[in-house]
Amino acid sequence: MSETSTKRMEDIVALCRRRGFIFQSSEIYGGINGFWDYGPYGSELKRNLKNAWWEDIVHGDLVGPTGEPVKIVGVDCTIIMNPKVWEASGHVGGFNDPMVDCKESRSRYRADHLMVVVNRQAGEDARMTAFMDGDDAGMEKAGKSLAKYEKTEWSPEVYEIRPYMDLDAAAMARVVGPDADAPGTLTEPRMFNLMFETYCGAIRDEDAKTYLRPETAQGIFVNFQNVVDSSRVKIPFGIAQIGKAFRNEVTPRNFTFRSREFEQMELEFFIHPSEAEQWYAWWRDNRFAWWKSIGLAGDNLILREHDRDELAHYAKEGAGTSDIEYRFPFTAPGFGELEGVAHRADFDLKAHAEHCGKGDKMRYFDQARNERYFPHVIEPSAGADRGALALLCEAYTPDESRASKVFMNFHPRVAPVKAGIFPLVAKDGMPEIADKLHKELRRRFVVETDAKQSIGKRYARMDECGTPYCITIDGDTTGDQAVTIRERNTQSQERVALDKVGAFLDEKIHGDA
Ligand code: GAP
Repeated sequence: MSETSTKRMEDIVALCRRRGFIFQSSEIYGGINGFWDYGPYGSELKRNLKNAWWEDIVHGDLVGPTGEPVKIVGVDCTIIMNPKVWEASGHVGGFNDPMVDCKESRSRYRADHLMVVVNRQAGEDARMTAFMDGDDAGMEKAGKSLAKYEKTEWSPEVYEIRPYMDLDAAAMARVVGPDADAPGTLTEPRMFNLMFETYCGAIRDEDAKTYLRPETAQGIFVNFQNVVDSSRVKIPFGIAQIGKAFRNEVTPRNFTFRSREFEQMELEFFIHPSEAEQWYAWWRDNRFAWWKSIGLAGDNLILREHDRDELAHYAKEGAGTSDIEYRFPFTAPGFGELEGVAHRADFDLKAHAEHCGKGDKMRYFDQARNERYFPHVIEPSAGADRGALALLCEAYTPDESRASKVFMNFHPRVAPVKAGIFPLVAKDGMPEIADKLHKELRRRFVVETDAKQSIGKRYARMDECGTPYCITIDGDTTGDQAVTIRERNTQSQERVALDKVGAFLDEKIHGDA
């Protein structure tokens, strides 16, 4: 089993709160389920992730499968759009999850995330106990409670796990809910729409009803023609957007993994239908390599091609869909989705053309081919919050030999603080040199000066928030005009000329460090 699965989620959540990465939203009022705030270090981390995505996707120098530079432009669309957008996209009619309520505990669960423990030798009327998929402690609790009821021992040889949704109505009635004591308190699964509704204007009636967008993608599709008409893009090209999305998730859980307000980093890449296979494969591999390049380099990251029967409605036909998945501590030994890469064919552009009444006029004219068509789309769609969470989980490294007992092994590009600046003692000109260095570096890098307590304690503080370099100004600095730079992971030290510190950091952060 990988290292991540041995990391405890409680410890990561505690560090996030203690060091100002992530707080519960409205914490002083008891919080609100499914909403999270980013503190000073967390907001830097998430911003670095989003900036890396934008720099590499929109401003990058990608070369496509045919050797041509890849053209991508950005948009920044509104969260509230004309509600017809969501009828056309299928979200109003189809953006549903099956859910069950527990009459005893008053809790609500996603039915397709519920699993049950059942005795392998069970007869027709046997009791079952439910838990949430991925919740190892919940599974053990459910297993032990069933074993106790059956006056036997909990063991995988005696008991097996089945999805709740595979049970028929009679069997569901024999299930004890995850937070209940008696069987039969779970309602039958009902569909639940995930769209957050609101109203535009003074009158709250059906005509004024609108939605908070559940994905950023539709803003891109409805602006496709505007972008083609206003910029010099030609197929193949992409439109990118980073922004908030809202889903009234039935069971928000696992820290920020399933939130009700989150951010997406989405790219819609428009192509000629005949080129779907090669662009799909290229984007899938490119996006997988990208997550590795920013620090998810180990075996906790996998690429998983969807089976035909799990494809979304818009991706049923075509080149395929894959998920880039990360082994979070709460999914281990399994994986959770970080990004989906889907061939959406021409579903969205065609649907909007039909619903807005423009029909075939919205077909793209391809001058080079002298052909009018609805372009196909390859969509790499990533979550910024899930990305930040994966970076946090991957970085978390217990180390008993350090004063901090743990360090955050962030890739320098995403680390919230790039360098700590330490005057060894508060005299002999050292604070003044530290101040000057801080002023020189701060416009280009997030740096922090720390002059309090021993060097060991200062290293510990920087290790805990994942600062890759610590720069010490010591008694020799005034003489040799050099500083000692300590690297976080190896704790090795090297002497670097004061006027070369900026170039050193640049190389480490933006080079192949
Ligand atoms: N436009 C396609 C789309 O929205 P999705 O798989 O529903 O596809 C894309 O979402 C990504 O958004 C996911 O891979 C995940 O990283 C992120 N995401 C989706 N729902 C989320 C939630 N409730 N909380 C946090 N991130 C979420």
